[in-house]
This record gives sequence, C-alpha cells and structure tokens, in this order.
Amino acid sequence: MSSRLTASESSLNAVTASGQQIATIRLENVYKTYDLGEIQVPALRGVSLEIFAGEFVAVMGASGSGKSTLMNILGCLDRPTKGRYFLDGRDVSSLSKDELAALRSHKIGFVFQQFNLLPRTSALENVELPTIYAGVPIEERAKRAEEALRRVGLAERAGHFPSQLSGGQQQRVAIARALVNNPSLVLADEPTGNLDSRTSVEIMEILQGLNEQHGLTVVIVTHEPDIAQYAKRALEFRDGKLRKDAMVQNRQLASEVLPTLPAIGAEDEADAPGDRAKSSNGNTPAD
Ligand SMILES: Nc1ncnc2c1ncn2[C@@H]1O[C@H](COP(=O)(O)OP(=O)(O)OP(=O)(O)O)[C@@H](O)[C@H]1O
Ligand SMILES: [Mg+2]
Repeated sequence: MSSRLTASESSLNAVTASGQQIATIRLENVYKTYDLGEIQVPALRGVSLEIFAGEFVAVMGASGSGKSTLMNILGCLDRPTKGRYFLDGRDVSSLSKDELAALRSHKIGFVFQQFNLLPRTSALENVELPTIYAGVPIEERAKRAEEALRRVGLAERAGHFPSQLSGGQQQRVAIARALVNNPSLVLADEPTGNLDSRTSVEIMEILQGLNEQHGLTVVIVTHEPDIAQYAKRALEFRDGKLRKDAMVQNRQLASEVLPTLPAIGAEDEADAPGDRAKSSNGNTPAD
C-alpha cells in the first residue's frame, strides 16, 4: 500500500494546473439506498455538493432526512449506491477497502454524538488508538496523543478514564482522538447532541479554533439552529435531498459568546430546554 499521505498532499489549497481550486469534497448526483431485502430505503436522492478547504459547514434537517448517511459517505465509511464522490479531487468510489481505510485514517477525523471512547482506557490511550492504525512508530504515539490533548485543553487529564470526565471533557478527548493523525477534514455527527448549552458552545469554540487557526475543514451535523450559527455555511436536507445551501448570516463566535453565558451550575434560569444535559456521560457504566 502506498497510501500514506504527507501534509503536502493534503487538501489545503489544492489547485489544478489551471489554477482552479480543487474542492475538498465533491459529490456528483449521489444516491444512497439501503437494501433490506424486501424493502429499499432511499436515504439520499441525488445530492450534488462541493465543500472547499477551510469551510465550516453545518448540516441540518429533520430526523431521517439523510444527514448521517451523508456523513458516512463523506467519511468513506460507506459508498454511494449511485453517483460519484471526489475527495481532494480523487474519485474514491473506485478505491478498494484498504485504500479507503488508509485515506480515512490520514485525512479524516470523526467525532460522534456518543463520544465512543473506550471505557476502561485512559484519555491518552483513547487518543493514541488511531495512530496505531495509521502506522505511527510506537515511540511517537504518546507524544502525538499528548499534543492532541493539549490542543483541546485537556493535557492534565491524560490519565483519566472516560467515567472520570464530564460529558464535555469526554467530547474533547474524542476531538483530540479525531485530530491525532493531523487530518485535513473533521466530520462531526451531532457533536453537541448530548451536551448542555454552555458545554456545547465550548465544543464549538474548539471546532472554530481548529477551523480558523489550523485551517481544518469542518462539517458538523446539528439539529440546533443556534449551534449552526457557529458554522460559516448551512445546508438543509429534506427527504434525502439538499434543499437549502446558504452562508450563515450573523455568524457567532464561540469565544465571544462564552463569557456571556452563565457558568456551569448557575444555569437553571431561563435556559432549560427539556433535559438537554441528560446523559452527558455517553458511556455505559463500567461493569
Ligand atoms: N443502516 C441502515 N439500514 C437501513 N436504513 C437505514 C440505515 N441507516 C439509515 N437508514 C434510513 O435512511 C434514512 C436516512 O437516515 P439517516 O440516519 O441518514 O438520517 P438522519 O438525518 O441522520 O436522522 P437523525 O437526525 O435521526 O440522526 C432513514 O429513513 C433511515 O431510516
Ligand atoms: Mg443521524
């Protein structure tokens, strides 16, 4: 396999010979139908889309509209039933499973709503995990993981287990894990879905920082319009189709909003939309 990618091969400002910028993500008339034997479930129905390096995109839409299906395709976890997907100009529909896995591990970082950390494994070891799959030399792994934890402000929690961390801290560990192989693209499927509102804005601050200071391309799924306000561009899906695509007006900067929010523990006033803070610990308890 010759699929190891160097930084210079990554998507930042990739251009064609004619000087045109190559999209980081380009979908051409993508369909995804889940085949359940007797029934076919259409999840994406003809989606065409381009996302360029350095964008910060929020994907919105009702439950079942195809957002996670889209993210799985963007992340090379699944392939379109029909249509084509170009990642940094390369048609990934033609790649083998191994090539897809290599591409994924070097180019793409994933963040999930449930954090998906291994419960009996320290924060540092959770973050290290993707470096093993990426073939990073053993002596470099811990250093890379420490650096990633530092980037999300959690260096001092490296030895903690997920159950010893708050929901927001667990999500920061998950973001560090997504960053550890220096991807150019971060995909986050409802990264704030299990967090209270202040913690959600803290997560958005980290994602905005990665986007602004490190030039990472960020795509997040969210149900919440106020979270989408932190993105630069918002897409809306309905019934598997892209219905709206617009730049975010009056974009919010999390670093400016945070000082205006009540501190944790002081937020039982106006802001109690149901039980948003409910399962801030996405893990099953250690058994
Ligand atoms: N693995 C699967 N097998 C069969 N059908 C699926 C599968 N995954 C998703 N679907 C169906 O595809 C459609 C789109 O699902 P998807 O998970 O992409 O929606 P979503 O927008 O992410 O929804 P939510 O906001 O609830 O997470 C839905 O009708 C769903 O039931
Ligand atoms: Mg979903």
